[in-house]
Amino acid sequence: MTQREEWRSHHGFTLAAIGSAVGLGNIWRFSYVAGENGGAVFLLIYVASVALIGLPLIIAELSMGRRGRGDAVAAFSTDGRGWTAVGWLCIGGASVILSYYSVIAGWALKYFSAAATGVLWQDGAGTYGSYFERFIANPVEPLLWQGLMLAATVLVVSGGIQGGIELFNRWLMPLLALIVVVLAAYSLTLEGAGRGLHFLFAPDFSALAQPKVYVAALGQAFFSLGVGMAVFATYGSYMPPGFSLPACAALTVTGDTVFAVVAGLAIFPGVFAFGVDPAAGPELAFITLPQIFLKMPGGLVIGAVFFFLLSAAALTSMVSLLEVPVAAVLHRTRLGRRRTAWGMGLLVFLIGMPSALGFGPLKHVSIAGKDILSAIDAAVSNLLLPIGGILVALFVGWHVKRATTLDSAGFATNRLGRTWLWLLRTLVPLAVLLVLLHSLGLA
Ligand code: PHE
Repeated sequence: MTQREEWRSHHGFTLAAIGSAVGLGNIWRFSYVAGENGGAVFLLIYVASVALIGLPLIIAELSMGRRGRGDAVAAFSTDGRGWTAVGWLCIGGASVILSYYSVIAGWALKYFSAAATGVLWQDGAGTYGSYFERFIANPVEPLLWQGLMLAATVLVVSGGIQGGIELFNRWLMPLLALIVVVLAAYSLTLEGAGRGLHFLFAPDFSALAQPKVYVAALGQAFFSLGVGMAVFATYGSYMPPGFSLPACAALTVTGDTVFAVVAGLAIFPGVFAFGVDPAAGPELAFITLPQIFLKMPGGLVIGAVFFFLLSAAALTSMVSLLEVPVAAVLHRTRLGRRRTAWGMGLLVFLIGMPSALGFGPLKHVSIAGKDILSAIDAAVSNLLLPIGGILVALFVGWHVKRATTLDSAGFATNRLGRTWLWLLRTLVPLAVLLVLLHSLGLA
């Protein structure tokens, strides 16, 4: 038997985990969901969800992965009581997420290329709505960019854990952190930036009474951390025993949250300085922001850098999503990593085609009143990830023996470990179930 791959360093592993968490969720999705849900109060509930629900779940996922030392199915196996089906659900789920995620990542790459070559700035403000709509309605172009992003993902995953995923994240993540900080610093110098800060940090507490804000905050926490689909279980399976698992998990959630807030600092001051609606929805990044870049001093460069950030952040998340099905095939067959990565990449591309074509050739298809991509995104964030999260909490919190659970997470039986286990057993499943029932219209 060949030796199982492992992360080279604690630092590299942590950057890879942060790279998985930081993605379109922090920039594209966080800004528009915060915009639609009142800003500061949303942020408050979001941070609480990340700390009390997201963090315990990430620790749980990493620990089951490290204990299983295999794929998502191995992470869910104890004495074979049906839990392994959940592992398969995660493998399928991660592939479906990647399929539509790669479509949006492709849009970001297209915008980067258009901004960098100057094409994006040619027609002027007021045309971005039709520019975006023309692009996503095209029967070929979105597929092309989606394919390019997937090919890049396959190349990284083909390089393996140390030589591909770890190396890639070690270089890219510090660069992305630098870029987002510079963008935020610049944005804060714009006249009228104060209103953006007010929106993001001065809560209007009446919003606390709106259930939709809780649903949105929890859904965003799941998506942005990327928890519930065995991504962390898969990354955790390559973790050597010596790494401090709770420390990695804490750094990951902190990094992800700080990144989202700093991205908000980069986006909202501009949104308010130029008097555009913060609740523009998913098109905020692709229609609203280019208009702002066009008017900002130095905005053409800033715009190109922004879309580079968006594409690169998406890529580090796509890598972690692809690793889930790839690890499953590697664990179960004798196919090599490269061939598996290309095969899976192709499969995901095919699954993603309807999402990519849903604004053009498949425009007439609507699921629950939404286009294909938005319907899958809603089902994933509001249903699939929370269901995955509840199952992880039940498996690690209740099914696995208490001593094994504490031991594999790297907690001795100290107070911290007990608090974690309590959250995992009670608050996490109950709170997530409540929100889940609400979004299904049952509570
Ligand atoms: N967390 C990633 C983001 O914020 C997306 C993701 C979702 C990654 C689910 C893994 C699993 O963009």
